[in-house]
Amino acid sequence: MARKGDRFVVIGGGRVGTAVGYLLSRTGREVAAVACRSEESLKRAGEYIPGSYLTTDMVRAAKRGNVLLITTPDDLIADACITLASAGAIKRGSYVVHMSGALGLDVLEAAEEAGAATASVHPLQTFADVKGAVRKIPGSVFAVTARDPRTVEWAEGLVRLLGGEPVRLAEENKVLYHLGAVMASNLLVALEHAAELLYQEIGMEGEKALRALLPLIEGTVGNLRRLGTEKALTGPVARGDIGIVRRHLEKLEEEDREKHLRAYVALTRFALDLAEANLSRSRSQEMEELLERYS
Ligand SMILES: NC(=O)c1ccc[n+]([C@@H]2O[C@H](COP(=O)([O-])OP(=O)(O)OC[C@H]3O[C@@H](n4cnc5c(N)ncnc54)[C@H](OP(=O)(O)O)[C@@H]3O)[C@@H](O)[C@H]2O)c1
Repeated sequence: MARKGDRFVVIGGGRVGTAVGYLLSRTGREVAAVACRSEESLKRAGEYIPGSYLTTDMVRAAKRGNVLLITTPDDLIADACITLASAGAIKRGSYVVHMSGALGLDVLEAAEEAGAATASVHPLQTFADVKGAVRKIPGSVFAVTARDPRTVEWAEGLVRLLGGEPVRLAEENKVLYHLGAVMASNLLVALEHAAELLYQEIGMEGEKALRALLPLIEGTVGNLRRLGTEKALTGPVARGDIGIVRRHLEKLEEEDREKHLRAYVALTRFALDLAEANLSRSRSQEMEELLERYS
């Protein structure tokens, strides 16, 4: 558990770093310093975390604390850690944490070699700006990964301090975990884009297409929340309406819509997994054979 006397340092005062710094300072924790690249981000960090030392020099920032939160873009975490360790800014017995969903602890190896305990705590959420992150971090599930039980417990304490709900995640499962998050969020957006493109073609220009689709998307999310995936599935696959699925596939093929066809076949297979319990064996098989023809 983070102790009262801990001095937190945020390396990378962007959306997540600034929000985490703000939430920690709100619990009375000392956020000793924030490092960013640009003056603009430093100014914003200063507004959220007044009293914190603001600098574009991450080494000077890190030297002020014993809990370093590296919240730079993922590709820079390992380099930032090496820079800090080789400058002697990581003290033995300190903690170095990153918040990436996909990366393991290997990117913090330089900190471990310097005698720090390392962890990753990843909020399973999407944050478009600092304000949204401040609102959504409390209540989010956080995947917690660390090498030893003591550090896991410490990292869980940090998550609770932020108002989050910790869930333990083995390092070897991080990539699959992150894949799940990308499918649930980023690829959902991509899927809505695929639908939007079709609607724009049939006359719903510009933003009209997404505006027309949003109530349907929100209704679906509501069903997922109330009923879970299996019961939330409606539409031709859930009803076993093979004729409709066939029409869709024929149309996509006839119009040479390759990307839509690939996505439709792949996702309909997952829909069939959910619907199978309610369909007869022969209907499921017929549906599988139909999809196979378009694979
Ligand atoms: N956003 C999300 O939805 C989300 C969700 C879960 C986890 N995460 C994780 O949170 C971490 C941070 O993501 P983010 O979305 O907050 O990124 P972000 O908004 O782009 O912020 C990154 C910050 O790093 C700073 N930075 C870049 N290079 C630097 C350098 N060399 N020295 C010092 N600071 C430097 C940037 O400074 P400037 O602003 O001055 O360029 C920026 O403030 C990532 O590991 C990400 O995977 C993000």
